[in-house]
Amino acid sequence: MIQELLDWYDINQRRIPWRKVKTPYAIWVSEIMCQQTRIETVIPYYLRFMAQLPTIEALAHCEEDLLLKLWQGLGYYNRVRNLQLAAQDILKRFNGIFPTTYAEVLSLKGIGDYTASAILSISYNQKYAAVDGNFLRVFSRIWMDERDIALETTKRFYKEKIESFIPLRSGDFNQAVMDLGATICLPNEVPLCNKCPLQAYCKAFQNHRMLDFPVKTKKNIKKEEEYTLFLIELDHQILLRKREDKGLLKGLYEFKNVEGKYSMEEVRKHFSPHLLRIQEGPTKTHIFTHRKWTMYSYFLQFSEYHPSDREFFVTKEELEKEYSIPTAFYQFVSYLKTSK
Ligand code: ADE
Ligand code: SF4
Repeated sequence: MIQELLDWYDINQRRIPWRKVKTPYAIWVSEIMCQQTRIETVIPYYLRFMAQLPTIEALAHCEEDLLLKLWQGLGYYNRVRNLQLAAQDILKRFNGIFPTTYAEVLSLKGIGDYTASAILSISYNQKYAAVDGNFLRVFSRIWMDERDIALETTKRFYKEKIESFIPLRSGDFNQAVMDLGATICLPNEVPLCNKCPLQAYCKAFQNHRMLDFPVKTKKNIKKEEEYTLFLIELDHQILLRKREDKGLLKGLYEFKNVEGKYSMEEVRKHFSPHLLRIQEGPTKTHIFTHRKWTMYSYFLQFSEYHPSDREFFVTKEELEKEYSIPTAFYQFVSYLKTSK
């Protein structure tokens, strides 16, 4: 089974920039970016990030606004904050050299079992299995295994089992499973078993039960929240606000908003007397891991406006180029660019 998989990988592997440079730093950055984000999306971010911050030291010393700007649109901004904290930690504890043991790597902020295993296998061919959703899907189908993959114990079972036979080329093995999961053994749809190098070993294929695996019970319940956004313009400048330094999307920039849904009349009343014009803007949604936002908006032009503490005006160019605006809010930028 392993040989077929590695042979398949040698010919069919996806061409990804970090597969050429296998330094632990490059693999680490790429793995953190790939969490919850598709590879095609990650690639330009990865290239930009590595060009600007080519070393652990550069990352450790990077200014916060640039760091967040390099991450804008990837979401889950704690990932990049932890990346920097870990880089600073590596300077202090490991003389700036990325550690090489599982326990040390795992001790870094933001690195869990999956990421530690991916880095150590891809960079050094240490025999760790990087068990993620791809792994669980591919192997639960091969073995027709009924364990609930939402359980931590299932993950541990798979990790131990796979590490008992993982080959010397452990990094390629892990990435082969990732590629197989992404391109052949697809999630939530009929896998392309005719192209799969593991078909002869796959129980789910033999029993026509590919879609019954993996078994997953835990539901992800999303809390629904509504916001009303105020897209405020004064002298061709737009009002931005820095979010609080705690909670979701902390420290990033947003348009002024309040929780709840407000009518045009309510908004007009609230903002008189210096309001020149009010116009309904677009409604957008954004889905996070545990919540769903619906955002209503109004475009407001003022003759006078006094920004409060965390508010300030910027030009439309600055808005796009200099501030890290999370995707939820960034959806309104194209509307602002065309509104007159
Ligand atoms: N997803 C996360 N890391 C990956 C990698 N190194 N190769 C392919 N897919 C991935
Ligand atoms: Fe997945 Fe089909 Fe390959 Fe089995 S044969 S591992 S179900 S793609």
